[in-house]
Amino acid sequence: MKDPRPTPSRRPLSGAGPVLLKVPTDAAWLPHALAHFDEVLVDHAHCEKKAAANALSLLQAYPEVPGLPAQMARLAREESAHLARVLQLMEARGLTLTRDGGDPYAKGLQAHVRHGAHERRLDRLLVAAIIEARSCERLSLLAEGLTDAPLKRFYAELAQSEDGHQSLFFRLAAAAHGEDVAQARLEQLLTDEASVLVHVGLRAAIH
Ligand SMILES: [Fe+2]
Ligand SMILES: [Fe+2]
Repeated sequence: MKDPRPTPSRRPLSGAGPVLLKVPTDAAWLPHALAHFDEVLVDHAHCEKKAAANALSLLQAYPEVPGLPAQMARLAREESAHLARVLQLMEARGLTLTRDGGDPYAKGLQAHVRHGAHERRLDRLLVAAIIEARSCERLSLLAEGLTDAPLKRFYAELAQSEDGHQSLFFRLAAAAHGEDVAQARLEQLLTDEASVLVHVGLRAAIH
């Protein structure tokens, strides 16, 4: 007999894509983020802005990777649309965008990007994949924790979208460097990411 219950929605947190985070977000993050949600929203706007800018920066740097220019053009448009929607939510709450105070998490990860041109390309694509995976996890947590129905839907939708992006970046890394090389380097960077998280600590921010 067919089970009449609806299938639970796929939870990107548990590793739907190729980027399997080594550690889950600390349990203290969600209550902290919900208690300072306005701050998180402003930080979120900056994250989407940087995601759009990074897509164009990768397009500029690596047009030779098959499929990358078209994918990054599409991604920049999608991340810009996310940014516009976050700005709209901010406006509705009477919030204005302040200067970008920087993202110690992204900076911490970027410090692991190697310098040789070949290695740098691989690492930049994989770091982008990891940031998308962590963002996906955090946005899913917000979707679960928020009580306002439209906000819950918004964050669930964005989490799904960022989940697609982590796969996209990994696919590009594998296309450019080979699946095995990309996978091995991803493993190392994921270990680095776990220590970056500890170093960054608890912030009223997406990361
Ligand atoms: Fe986004
Ligand atoms: Fe994204």
